[in-house]
Amino acid sequence: MLAPIIIAIDGYSSCGKSTLAKQLAKELQFKYIDTGAMYRALTLYLLQNQIDIHHPAMVAAALTQIGISFGLDTQTQEQFTLLNGENVEHEIRVNPRVASAVSIVSAQTEIRKFLVKQQQAFGISKGIVMDGRDIGTVVFPQAELKLFITAEPNIRAQRRLIELKEMEQNTTFEEVLANLQKRDLMDTTRADSPLLKATDAIEIDNSNLSREDQLTKVLNLVKSLNKPAQ
Ligand code: DC
Repeated sequence: MLAPIIIAIDGYSSCGKSTLAKQLAKELQFKYIDTGAMYRALTLYLLQNQIDIHHPAMVAAALTQIGISFGLDTQTQEQFTLLNGENVEHEIRVNPRVASAVSIVSAQTEIRKFLVKQQQAFGISKGIVMDGRDIGTVVFPQAELKLFITAEPNIRAQRRLIELKEMEQNTTFEEVLANLQKRDLMDTTRADSPLLKATDAIEIDNSNLSREDQLTKVLNLVKSLNKPAQ
């Protein structure tokens, strides 16, 4: 039996962090938390309620009204995001206004403090896989396993384009690549909790790795952590 540990997965937009995190959670029977979904749901609330996202004081005042949680579809076993009890999973993935506003919203310190506190509470009893941008550096600096996932921008844009087409979104490779590069820049240059590889994180470039090979590689890392010291 695997001891419950915290697995922190960070990396750029659309590099397959969530896919890997979900696979790992399933294999290990751990909880899975997609922190990007939390920033997206919060952004959706601000947009729906016409709160000026460029006005940190107004944004901070709205936080008491926002409850984010996760539900499980018992048929598909897929997790979905709830905003004040409403399933917003589809909306937060396809709404282009959410995609462009989320980097501005997630750069704000009050918002990060609000969500990081909830994320840390999710991990209190360990046995969790969490993915995001600051999980190994800020949310769980003590995580037993930290992964930093990368992939070439063109490959990431192509993967994201396929996902959007599957959700019947009409967009182009160029638009997807530009949005992704803009988000990379904002995520890595913001003052509060920029995307950074933790010094003790293991980097995996999955540009040329299949999902299965990536999972095997990480499961081997998990197993090696559980081996008693010689
Ligand atoms: O992983 P994603 O693309 O769904 O994340 C959406 C946005 O949220 C992304 O622009 C960066 C931000 N984010 C963050 O700042 N910190 C996290 N832990 C997770 C996401």
